[in-house]
Amino acid sequence: MQSSRERNVSLPRAISKLGVASRKQAEEMILSGRVTVNGLVLKNTSFRVDLREDKIKLDGEAIQKKKFIYLILNKPKGYVTTRSDELNRKTIYDLLKNVREWVFPVGRLDKDTTGLLLLTNDNKLGEVLTNPKSPPDPLDHRASWRAGRIHKTYVAKINKPVDRLALEKLRSGVFIDEDLKTLPAKVNIINGTRTEIMLTIVEGKNRQVRRMFESLTYKVIELKRIQIGPILLGNLELGCFRHLTKPEVEKLMEQK
Ligand code: URA
Repeated sequence: MQSSRERNVSLPRAISKLGVASRKQAEEMILSGRVTVNGLVLKNTSFRVDLREDKIKLDGEAIQKKKFIYLILNKPKGYVTTRSDELNRKTIYDLLKNVREWVFPVGRLDKDTTGLLLLTNDNKLGEVLTNPKSPPDPLDHRASWRAGRIHKTYVAKINKPVDRLALEKLRSGVFIDEDLKTLPAKVNIINGTRTEIMLTIVEGKNRQVRRMFESLTYKVIELKRIQIGPILLGNLELGCFRHLTKPEVEKLMEQK
């Protein structure tokens, strides 16, 4: 019999680590009595297990560790980044119909934002990429990336030419809420009429880019994400997805 010290992962977390469901879905499975550990039905979601020793079954079948997959999707406008939508809107999963694995998006995009979404069933990577461990270094991409502060690059089209003062403010940080100031960002104008701006940010606040511009009286008309850390959207067609290449996955793994 193993010692309780080796039981170091909660049962829902263990199930999600095996890549078959999110932690929330795993909790529901446990509460509805579908999960056994070493032959016993367990309805306690705080129960801790040892993934190497304990035999976890779902509906009587041993849960095998799933092969991890990593996808990149070019999200079109009009799709929400949720699994199911109470308003019956199109979701990103409508674009992933032939993907049989359970995958979740690493960070979200608004309904009207287009571009790069990463999807995986690798919970550990998802957590590392979305839960910053330490403050970012805006000048050192690799240091911030190592600290879990993943850089995300967007191209925003705005309703009027951006002026120099606004650019400086976007770079040093703006208040997008009463007490919420954004971290330093890289900001560059990319067209002659000063209405297309490329921004690299290290946070993922709700509607962050739109709110950054709104705080300075600009309106974002189009927004597209073109890069997450080392992964580039490239020429992937709108509405299509592909598996990341081995070198791309290796670069992501440096974060784990
Ligand atoms: N910032 C936004 O405003 N929207 C997104 O979808 C992503 C970043």
